[in-house]
Amino acid sequence: MYKLYCRIYQNAFKAGAVVLPWRRPKRLGGYDALATLLRDKNCNSVLIVTDKGITALGLHKKLTDTITQAGIKIVTYDKTAQNPTIDNVEEALTLYHDKNCSAIIGLGGGSSMDCAKGVGARIARPKKAIHQLRGQLKVWLKMPLFIAIPTTAGSGSETSVAALLTDSLTHEKFAINDPALIPHYMLHDPRLTIDLPPALTATTGMDALCHAVEAYIGNSNTCRTQMDAIKAVRIIFSNLYTAYCDGQNLQARANMQKAAYLAGAAFTRAYVGNIHAVSHALSGQYGTPHGLANAVIMPYVLDMYGEAIEKPLSELAIAAGLADVKTSKNVAARRFIDATRDMNKKMGIPDKISGINPSDIPMLATRALREANPLYPVPVIFGHDDMVKIYHAIM
Ligand SMILES: [Fe+2]
Repeated sequence: MYKLYCRIYQNAFKAGAVVLPWRRPKRLGGYDALATLLRDKNCNSVLIVTDKGITALGLHKKLTDTITQAGIKIVTYDKTAQNPTIDNVEEALTLYHDKNCSAIIGLGGGSSMDCAKGVGARIARPKKAIHQLRGQLKVWLKMPLFIAIPTTAGSGSETSVAALLTDSLTHEKFAINDPALIPHYMLHDPRLTIDLPPALTATTGMDALCHAVEAYIGNSNTCRTQMDAIKAVRIIFSNLYTAYCDGQNLQARANMQKAAYLAGAAFTRAYVGNIHAVSHALSGQYGTPHGLANAVIMPYVLDMYGEAIEKPLSELAIAAGLADVKTSKNVAARRFIDATRDMNKKMGIPDKISGINPSDIPMLATRALREANPLYPVPVIFGHDDMVKIYHAIM
């Protein structure tokens, strides 16, 4: 009965999603174009939401110099945590108002984007607290001008509806999903990613792979999300390891940014699934980095889905160059799962998550279930026992 309820809910959402205001961000050609855009929009002051890692490396300099030279004031919030909190959002929001900003730039990985989207959501809905915006379609109203500049190739947040935030008191990570949160513009500069350490290159890249996989094997695909996911998988399998081994390889970096964008575009319309639900509960409770958690969890969840995903996974295996049309579906699907384990191993990603307290597992399972069901159109609906089994397997 529970599974039937989930499927009815998912199908209703899938039908309703057709009329939602989906859009993709417009692409900016460079920092000069960004400065021109701000001037054209009569923006005198802009809030940059980023993190200390970015400012310490000076990755914001080119951006801030160009904007300043255009006569536009900048206020920078760089206290975004790895798993951004409601407090982060409120601090950045205060800066936005105090400095009379009229635009937001998210500069960083998924965390900075999530925080920036939280600020945008609060501006769109000033009478609502962040926790009141949790869930689906609670923002709806237009955010101020929002430009996303990713410095990793993973989250796809520059094109996604999602903002993931953590409640510092309960340690619960939760999502705000709304097409209003899709950035208006994005700027891809692969030079920003060349200093990304190999470990982060690996885990963020595997996060992008999770987005493509979960979007593709779920039940809310469209032709376009399937195409985007296939392309993303193809690019990731041919470029992630190169970017990991040779961080200065600008072509591999640019390709990975493209893959992360495509995977982001796929999952924002077709959703993620149980990998992300299991992962978010861990990040909220223990601060486990998102990409690392996803990379570790992915093969375990895919194994648990079993026969239900043989066909779509075999198609992804072909895209990844692991099989051809003559390969039987179960063999191709098995190769794909094995390849995710191999990629993790080659890039130094462990096959377990350390620090999980066994007594927390029932609570983690409840949180993961609350995120996954009834919303995510997963190929197999997990119950509480399944979630518990996954947490035990990965610890
Ligand atoms: Fe993700």
